[in-house]
Amino acid sequence: MSLVGALPFLKPCLSPSVSPGRQRRHTLPASEFRPLNTQDAISVFEIEREAFISVSGDCPLHLDEVRHFLTLCPELSMGWFEEGRLVAFIIGSLWDQERLTLDALTLHKPKGTTVHIHVLAVHRTFRQQGKGPILMWRYLQYLRCLPNVRRAVLMCEDFLVPFYQKSGFKVQGRCSITVASLTFTEMQYPVRGHAFMRRNSEATGVPQATLFPYILKSGHHQC
Ligand SMILES: CC(C)(COP(=O)(O)OP(=O)(O)OC[C@H]1O[C@@H](n2cnc3c(N)ncnc32)[C@H](O)[C@@H]1OP(=O)(O)O)[C@@H](O)C(=O)NCCC(=O)NCCS
Repeated sequence: MSLVGALPFLKPCLSPSVSPGRQRRHTLPASEFRPLNTQDAISVFEIEREAFISVSGDCPLHLDEVRHFLTLCPELSMGWFEEGRLVAFIIGSLWDQERLTLDALTLHKPKGTTVHIHVLAVHRTFRQQGKGPILMWRYLQYLRCLPNVRRAVLMCEDFLVPFYQKSGFKVQGRCSITVASLTFTEMQYPVRGHAFMRRNSEATGVPQATLFPYILKSGHHQC
């Protein structure tokens, strides 16, 4: 037997057809979590268009607002990509008051200690797979790495209250903001002073074994 035949692990290095550099360029990660940037804005808006506009005629962030926040505070966003395709995302900005007001929908307050989560959405074909709760879990863990962030807040329609409660959010009360005839519940999550998410499974409703591969794979949002 030749030396190469006896050492099969050498074969890829000796193959003349595809260099390792080329292989890398053509291989998209199966699952990747990273902050969004303005180049992702169209993909974000496509998901929003299907998730919200086709249902209610409006959406949390219009395209120019997506670009606005991804320019001002990309570090408060998180995208989940499968083989390069955006499958779920969160967009947040900083807010500096106890409760949300209309200004919170359009402003980023760099000195604020509250992260206002404007939108969480999962691409239609990837729903009902636990991705929304997993992304939220990762995002909340990531916020713990940001020294000035004290809490996260969001406003949601009443039917989504149980969904966010499973991620550890608590009801703060009725939100003063209304959009057309829609009313919202305001919810908050204490980023500081929260027992370490009860090591995730209890708080998210997602078994730890399910979460682990996703938790370990991200290289971009680690503290
Ligand atoms: C809401 C959303 C983010 C949930 O993400 P998802 O990955 O599809 O979540 P899953 O289907 O895996 O559900 C996880 C849990 O939330 C519950 N849930 C999901 N969507 C729900 C909804 N619309 N209403 C109430 N509960 C819901 C599920 O029943 C499930 O509960 P369980 O763990 O007890 O079974 C996703 O459906 C979505 O993007 N919807 C459109 C956009 C939207 O409404 N975003 C939220 C407002 S910003």
